[in-house]
Amino acid sequence: MNDSFDDDMASTRPEDKTERRSLPSTQDAVDNKKSEVTIHELRQFDDFPEWINPESLANFLYESLKPYEDPLPVVRQGMFDALEPSNGEPGFVLVAEIDQKVVGALLMLRTGMKGYIPENLLLMVAVDPSTRGKGVGAQIIKRSFELADGDVKLHVEYDNPAKRLYERLGMTSKYAEMRYNK
Ligand SMILES: CC(C)(COP(=O)(O)OP(=O)(O)OC[C@H]1O[C@@H](n2cnc3c(N)ncnc32)[C@H](O)[C@@H]1OP(=O)(O)O)[C@@H](O)C(=O)NCCC(=O)NCCS
Repeated sequence: MNDSFDDDMASTRPEDKTERRSLPSTQDAVDNKKSEVTIHELRQFDDFPEWINPESLANFLYESLKPYEDPLPVVRQGMFDALEPSNGEPGFVLVAEIDQKVVGALLMLRTGMKGYIPENLLLMVAVDPSTRGKGVGAQIIKRSFELADGDVKLHVEYDNPAKRLYERLGMTSKYAEMRYNK
């Protein structure tokens, strides 16, 4: 694993790129208290807040993506490709926080293409199981659409209920994704 994944990566703190947003008023605050979701926008590994490091965020994603999880090394690779790609430009990572606890995360990659393929790939999004159904996922995804320069694509299993959420947020599915695996 690349050294950037060490806790040391959290040593240099970025300028504050956080944005405070309240949960939708129609929804109960998480844990029945007036909690606020903070969405952190990370553009490089140095942007990690001090209370979370890349490895623990990868673990959060791996655990929270279940039962649609990718293997942990794939999650780590996705985070690298979002923040320090070996080719092309970086995308970004969003971390949703309540009281210094990660409740959601999203990885957005640049595809390097445009027109025939959207410029951005929403690779992974997950919300902590205890926090689901309260609007956090919609909030992070909407934020990612605002931040992404250009169109966004993603793939989702046909049976994943997240598909309904994506459709509610305006995504359409004109093509079936097909793969030839080697
Ligand atoms: C998909 C996910 C990020 C949505 O986050 P969320 O905070 O629960 O989403 P919201 O509260 O904004 O919206 C709820 C919607 O999420 C979808 N959803 C998917 N799994 C859900 C779950 N376990 N509980 C509640 N909603 C879920 C539903 O479409 C729901 O909308 P509905 O009322 O029409 O059924 C979250 O459920 C999750 O982490 N799922 C597991 C990982 C995953 O499947 N990621 C996407 C891979 S493509």
